[in-house]
Amino acid sequence: MNILLGVTGGIAAYKALNLVRLYRKAGHEVQVVMTDSAQAFVAPLSFQALSGHPVRTELFDPEQEAGMDHIALARWADVLVIAPATANVLAKLSAGLADDLLTTLVLACDRPLVVAPAMNRVMWQQPVTQQNLQALQARGITVVPPGEGEQACGETGEGRLAEETAIVTATESVQSALSGSSKPKNDQAWLKTQAFLQGKQVLITVGPTQEPIDPVRFLGNRSSGRMGFALAQAASEAGANVTLIAGPVALPTPAGVRRVDVATAQQMFDAVQAEFAQTDVLIGAAAVADYRVAEPAEQKLKKSPDADELTLKLIKNPDIIGWAGEQKAQNGGKGPILVGFAAETENLEAHARTKLQTKQLDMICANQVGDKLGFDQPDNALTLITAEHTRHLTRSDKADQARQLLQVLLEWQADLKF
Ligand SMILES: Cc1cc2nc3c(=O)[nH]c(=O)nc-3n(C[C@H](O)[C@H](O)[C@H](O)COP(=O)(O)O)c2cc1C
Repeated sequence: MNILLGVTGGIAAYKALNLVRLYRKAGHEVQVVMTDSAQAFVAPLSFQALSGHPVRTELFDPEQEAGMDHIALARWADVLVIAPATANVLAKLSAGLADDLLTTLVLACDRPLVVAPAMNRVMWQQPVTQQNLQALQARGITVVPPGEGEQACGETGEGRLAEETAIVTATESVQSALSGSSKPKNDQAWLKTQAFLQGKQVLITVGPTQEPIDPVRFLGNRSSGRMGFALAQAASEAGANVTLIAGPVALPTPAGVRRVDVATAQQMFDAVQAEFAQTDVLIGAAAVADYRVAEPAEQKLKKSPDADELTLKLIKNPDIIGWAGEQKAQNGGKGPILVGFAAETENLEAHARTKLQTKQLDMICANQVGDKLGFDQPDNALTLITAEHTRHLTRSDKADQARQLLQVLLEWQADLKF
């Protein structure tokens, strides 16, 4: 794969050298474009030596424009990656600016873009930076979120460049989603699923929710979001317009998928309500907290020397998929296909069937958790249940389970009145 790597002016620019090395080791071709600021951190010659190509830095470069001009460079690329991406470049991309070679290339290139932001934690937390990121994600750009830890500026917090290996994985998964190498290309059932989902609006909730206890603590759960992200990728590959409403997870957004990030169950509910009217298929794969803390403390709770116990009062959260079922029932059964997930540690099918009925869903995907399957595991073995049918899927990776789930939706569509 041909990777065009943009390096911008952050302290983590030196880590992009290792990224080039890892890409080359994995068999990819890399050409590097550096912004002016990036060259203050690392010399272009280092990237030239590691990539085996001259490094491009100037938009107006008569020598290069006679050879590999910027349009040829954009056409050469299979994927564009910007790592590290400064707050400045995120703002420019969000606004659609093209005032240097890198940002011009982004606009001139119709290949997928992956950005890996890195910056001081205060810059990262600025509402304007977060808004820029959300705008990029909404356009289907893949963001590899930064990690937490010690920063070069001496502070500790979120904003460190993601691990280089995570950036390589995100780059390769974006590309494989586009080339379709992760799915069986000539599989008849999959081709039919594509015809079925083409242009449909698919809304997927995913990941855990976090319910604040105080400004630094929350109630959460072990959901990794992998199943929902696999579903988003599979539905997008099948030609659906996919929106992911994602609780806090550090997973790259699949290519072409619109992502809305939320933290609490209430925020997830608000986002689902905003999208519901335009939705053809709603898949509730998120592990939504049933309860939240009634009154989160405004300041960090302190350990009291006299009290051995601390009681938190919890109140019920909105039942998102239950609300969707009720809306559809009130509308005489018209509305999106509703698919829920039931993650259970015991009596899997019985609990799942109860949930199917009480929440008035069309299908439920029963998900055994806690036995080396389910949460935070690469594999799954779903049991798909509707009022008329039951299908046990054999254990496989979550990408395969996601494709099978969509194929079964197609198979059973007559009963689901799609
Ligand atoms: C020592 C130093 C370190 C910097 N580190 C970062 C950083 O990690 N992330 C960031 O967004 N900006 C950082 N900046 C600020 C950017 O270099 C500055 O916003 C610049 O205009 C970015 O240009 P570019 O986006 O075209 O590369 C740093 C600046 C200095 C002087």
